[in-house]
Parts: sequence; structure tokens; C-alpha cells
Amino acid sequence: MSVAALPRINVMKPWLGDEEVAAVTEVIESGWVAQGPRVAAFELAFAEAMQAGEAVAVSNCTTALHLALVVAGIGAGDDVVVPSFSFVATSNAPTYVGARPVFADVDASTGNVTAETIAAALTPATRAVIVVDQGGIPVDLVPIRALCDPKGIVVIEDAACGAGSTYRGRPVGAGADLAAWSFHPRKILTTGEGGMLTTSNPEWAARARRLREHAMSVSAAARHASLVSPPEEYAEIGFNFRMTDLQAAVGIVQLGKLDGVVTRRRENAARYRAELAGVAGIRVVDDPAWGTSNFQSLWLEVGDEYPLDREGLLVALAEAGVSARRGIMAAHRQPAYAGHDGGTASLEVTERLTDHTLILPLFHQMEAAELDRVVAVVREAGGR
Ligand SMILES: Cc1ncc(COP(=O)(O)O)c(C=O)c1O
Repeated sequence: MSVAALPRINVMKPWLGDEEVAAVTEVIESGWVAQGPRVAAFELAFAEAMQAGEAVAVSNCTTALHLALVVAGIGAGDDVVVPSFSFVATSNAPTYVGARPVFADVDASTGNVTAETIAAALTPATRAVIVVDQGGIPVDLVPIRALCDPKGIVVIEDAACGAGSTYRGRPVGAGADLAAWSFHPRKILTTGEGGMLTTSNPEWAARARRLREHAMSVSAAARHASLVSPPEEYAEIGFNFRMTDLQAAVGIVQLGKLDGVVTRRRENAARYRAELAGVAGIRVVDDPAWGTSNFQSLWLEVGDEYPLDREGLLVALAEAGVSARRGIMAAHRQPAYAGHDGGTASLEVTERLTDHTLILPLFHQMEAAELDRVVAVVREAGGR
């Protein structure tokens, strides 16, 4: 078969099936499709699975980050340290509350911020830090909290990619003041679109719950439950950041599959690493000493010893029908941040990684033969 005739291998495919269809059908037949009992059940199940005090379901991770900053009291005049090396939503969230995102660099082996890179970005106005479990690699939170807690700096974990990753034997996010999660189809637990805010602070959780629903004092579900609806009040300006019961029903099924999905991803990640171990100039991301990754994004760094640069390898993969992706973006280089005063920290590692990394295909249904096809391209283009 010619290369052109080979079926395309995508970087990611959501894994949804009959159980999700049945769950959605049940919601439709129930007559209640907006935020209601399934959202409440998903929140309870997610909080338990992630060892979080409380979970508040929202429309996506970006709105979860936005709410996290609001309930933590971050606003105009405050600085929020963020990695530039992240999807742009991490940097955008502080701007929604009038704060300034200040960029920190990342560690080259994990792609995550560290206590050292955060320390280099702190300003007298820093009131919060958003740390990211980039591509699912757990961030080393304990030293970061040791730096931030005495200064009263709130630590928010952007665990958009982190469902199923662990830190020091617990789910990621469990050690942060607030954690934000994404259920976009590019993530390994999906509800189409969707997100969650988790926190151990019940007052923050209660306020987030009101704020996501226009800051209404009586939820729509509670009003529906009574024949004579109690009068509602709007004590502050809220948002519509709700998740629907249709999404939550899918989320409950997906959460039940998470352990199996992570096990399979980790097996495939190990196989990629073993197969590519001898290829000079290729470094495949691995677990750090302090935890385990779900390998939501399995990235590799293309070094000088490899015959092609990152763009060249992307072309070689594309020619073989493999749709890989450039690695994580750097927000500070985007036009949206041109002219933005993002602080003075060096972003040297961020720039190196964003220019030299790419993400390989990895999805639950991936066949061994598909993985071997990807490996063969990387090896052959590398002269092995
Ligand atoms: C690190 C990170 N933060 C935030 C987001 C935004 O998530 P959502 O699309 O659910 O708003 C993403 C999505 O790719 C992400 O990777």
C-alpha cells in the first residue's frame, strides 16, 4: 500500500460509546437537560475521585480559572504569575478580572513551573500563581506552596490536562487551594465542552456555585423543585458558566472509565519511549520523580543531533499520514500579548521547548500497528 493510501492517524480521538449514548438518552427522556441532578451527581463523583473537598461543574476550564480568581479575591492591581508555556487560557484568565499575568519560565524536563522559576517572576503585587500540570505531567507543588503560603499568595492549579495524573500518591489538584479542570475532547475525560472547579474551601465553593448561575440566591433546580418558587435575589454580578445535565451524564460515564484509559495511555507512552530510546536527538517526556502522568499530551523534544528540525519532522509525519502537533504554545509570543508588560523573568526554556517540541498521536483506541507506524517515521527520518 502506498503511504498516501494509509489511513490517517490523528493526534487524539475522544473515546465515547454506547454507555455515553444511553446516559444522554436517559437525560433527554427525563425532560431535564440543563444543570440539574446529573450535574450534582457528577460533582460528587468527581470530588471523591480527585480527593477534593468540593467540586463545582462549569462550562469549561477557562471559566473555572476565571471563577477561581474571583473567589480568591484577585482583581485590578494584582499580579498573577503564570507559565507562558501553556494554552493561552492560562494567561487570559487573570486579564478577565483586571489583573496582570506575569510570565514565569518552566523546567526543561517537565515543562512545568517550579518554585525557582516562580520566585524569579514574583513582584510586590503578586497575589496568586497559576501552576499547570502541562500535558498531564504533575507540577511539583510542595516547594511552590512553601514559597507562596508564607507570602499569602494563592496557588491555583490549572489541571486542565491532569485528570488521572498523580502527585505524591494523590490525584493532582488535591494539594492546591483551587484547581481547574477541562473536559474538552482533546482531554482524556470529555463531556464535549465542560470544566470543573475543585477546592477545599467550602465558602469559595458556595460562592463559585452561585456565581456560575448569575449569582442567583436560589438555583434553577431548586426553583423547579417547588410549586411556589421562592423569590430569588442577585447579591452580586454573576455569570452563566453552567454545565448541562447532558454533559454531566457523559462525564459520569467517562469518569468511571478514567483508570482504564490512563493505564492504557501509560502503556502506550512507555512503548513510545522504549521504541524511540535509541534515536539520537529525540527526548520523549517521562514521569517526574514525584508523580505519574496520564500522558494527556505525549511530547518529544527534537534536539540538534536529530537530522531534521521540529518542522521537518512534522512534515515527515504528515507525509506518512500522521497528524502530530507542534508542542505547547508560548503565550508571551502571541499578538494578543504584544506590548503586554509580562514581567522581567527569563523565558529561555519556554522558548526552547515551544520551538523544538511536538506532540505524538496517543488515544485510547490506538492500535499497536498505528503506534509502530508513527515510531517508524521518527526512526527512519532520524536515520535509524
Ligand atoms: C493548560 C490548559 N488550561 C486551560 C485550558 C482551557 O480549557 P477549556 O477549553 O476547557 O476552557 C486548556 C485547554 O486546552 C489547557 O490545556
